[in-house]
Amino acid sequence: MNYIGSKHKLIPFIKKTIYSVVGQDLSNKIFCDIFAGTGIVGRNFKTEVKTIISNDLEYYSYILNQNYIGNHQPIINQNELISELNSVKSLEGFIFKHYCRGGIENRKYFSDENGKKIDTIRQNIENWKTNNKIDNCTYYFLLASLLESADKVANTASVYGAYLKHLKKSASKILILSSAEFELCENIHLVFQKDSNQLIKEIEGDILYLDPPYNTRQYGANYHILNTIAEYKDFVPKGKTGLNEYKKSKYCSKQTVTEELEYLIRYSQFEYIFLSYNNEGLMSVDKIKNIMEKYGKYDLSSINYQRFKADKDENRNHKASETKEYLHILQKNG
Ligand SMILES: C[S@@+](CC[C@H](N)C(=O)[O-])C[C@H]1O[C@@H](n2cnc3c(N)ncnc32)[C@H](O)[C@@H]1O
Repeated sequence: MNYIGSKHKLIPFIKKTIYSVVGQDLSNKIFCDIFAGTGIVGRNFKTEVKTIISNDLEYYSYILNQNYIGNHQPIINQNELISELNSVKSLEGFIFKHYCRGGIENRKYFSDENGKKIDTIRQNIENWKTNNKIDNCTYYFLLASLLESADKVANTASVYGAYLKHLKKSASKILILSSAEFELCENIHLVFQKDSNQLIKEIEGDILYLDPPYNTRQYGANYHILNTIAEYKDFVPKGKTGLNEYKKSKYCSKQTVTEELEYLIRYSQFEYIFLSYNNEGLMSVDKIKNIMEKYGKYDLSSINYQRFKADKDENRNHKASETKEYLHILQKNG
């Protein structure tokens, strides 16, 4: 998934830094990814550590992480379920009605055909759960598969803050539900949907990885369609983009972010803390350093990083820009 602030491409840098500080053998460590997003960081440590604690404020992220992190044993009949969902006859529902050109508000997030297919698959998954045809693990696996597959055919430049005027090529393709594959392992992992600053007082462990939003773009607004598909509850969509009420993170405001971060560091019960942030963020490197070094031994690692910005109106002319990606490191005083 093309996700704001995704650490997908930075995994080698993050892993290398964590190994150099904590050591290569993490098999008895509890690793918390408290701003998990797509879950890509936790996924990369899932088979190496004793326990992953994965958390995010957003419901779509909770679903993705229940699948990628929480699920650890094979899904029975996985292929049969996926192909059954791919072959059901499409009917109109909430997504078609509110987010497709043929619907009542003429929004163009999906082609009409894909909007109906999302509706039908989503309703089937819910019915299967209600009728006990599937268990919770399978429910999360199928929902995560739907979110990933729907995202591939979304008619947006990158995020869901706006849709494109004309159906782009990838959005014209018919949605094919594909399996959101996860790593199998013996260990049990934990997944939450809470505010980081509430959860921090309820957990303890060894390695805390922090990847908060670094600018004012609220994830709940930029990925609202994913929440709508995941929750699939009736509401009155507002404005041009059909927005629902959404959660506002205090990490996305210059007025509140510093205080929030300090609170998180102060109350964390983890020996090692790693914080990803870049040079375009709301807080400067020095500001973060000043906060973190109050609580133990501080260090800093950095890497230059090519980032691609999607053009606002078209899905082309992606502009490459170089940013500096930091990993702030703290070994907390006991
Ligand atoms: C930079 S993204 C994380 C990206 C993730 N590491 C990845 O690679 O996919 C920041 C995440 O923090 C979440 N978030 C924002 N405020 C939060 C809060 N107060 N508590 C928990 N999660 C929060 C957002 O929903 C978003 O998914």
